[in-house]
Amino acid sequence: MLERINEAVKYINNLLPEQPEFVIVLGSGLGKLEDEVENKVVINYKEIPNFPQVTVEGHKGHLVYGTILGKKVLMMAGRFHYYEGYSMEEVTFPMRVFNGLGIKKVILSNASGGVNPDFQVGDILLVKDHINMMPEHPLRGKNIDELGPRFVDMSKAYDREMLNEAVEFAKANDILVHQGVYVGLQGPTFETPSEYGLVRFIGGDCVGMSTVPEVIVARHMDMRVFCVSIITDLGGPEISFDVSHEDVLNAANNAMPNVIKVVKSVIENC
Ligand code: HPA
Repeated sequence: MLERINEAVKYINNLLPEQPEFVIVLGSGLGKLEDEVENKVVINYKEIPNFPQVTVEGHKGHLVYGTILGKKVLMMAGRFHYYEGYSMEEVTFPMRVFNGLGIKKVILSNASGGVNPDFQVGDILLVKDHINMMPEHPLRGKNIDELGPRFVDMSKAYDREMLNEAVEFAKANDILVHQGVYVGLQGPTFETPSEYGLVRFIGGDCVGMSTVPEVIVARHMDMRVFCVSIITDLGGPEISFDVSHEDVLNAANNAMPNVIKVVKSVIENC
């Protein structure tokens, strides 16, 4: 594993003018942040040794290096989901490469279904904690001591300073944000009403199909993590709205301008 990580790191390092400070995983709702990057260097996943490959035609699969507000960032446009059939090792391999590049700050975004009755479609949720309900753990197996400890402290998985910056910025700029708990499920089905009810019952505010494996592996390597989620649909035992992928994308796109503002404040001040 270490060798495979190092090969990818070496390849990317040769193409980067400088070491990035942040990595930003562009999930639903943050895609357009890519347009704001200056002095771009684009690296296709296809070129990178050992990198997982995008199998769905039309899906993005590249890294973008550049600057935002003068800060050096690396963006991941196109992520790997467990439900697509990638192993947990593949889903989290990019994060290990980013750590190998010396990046210690991670910004993730995703779309999720809201189960907190106070939420509305299009709301922004800053993830303050998660519950891992995925069927496989990305750190299962022999620990790679060079990357991190066997037993990882998850008491502050989401960085308090980055979270506070986002909260303060949102307050000062009249952007409504919630803080809450993201529950990670395998998918690819959206949840049944009873499953949304379960997510609420166990303490979740929202549910989605990504992020949790990446956060676990990032914390293993002691990277600092910030995550913003867009509530793209609502679910619960008494709610049976139809949910479609299209609805999710529309809601995410509508919330995007405010999400981008919040994320930029974290980039600028953390
Ligand atoms: N459930 C799981 N994943 C999701 C949802 C949802 O309701 N919305 C967007 N991603």
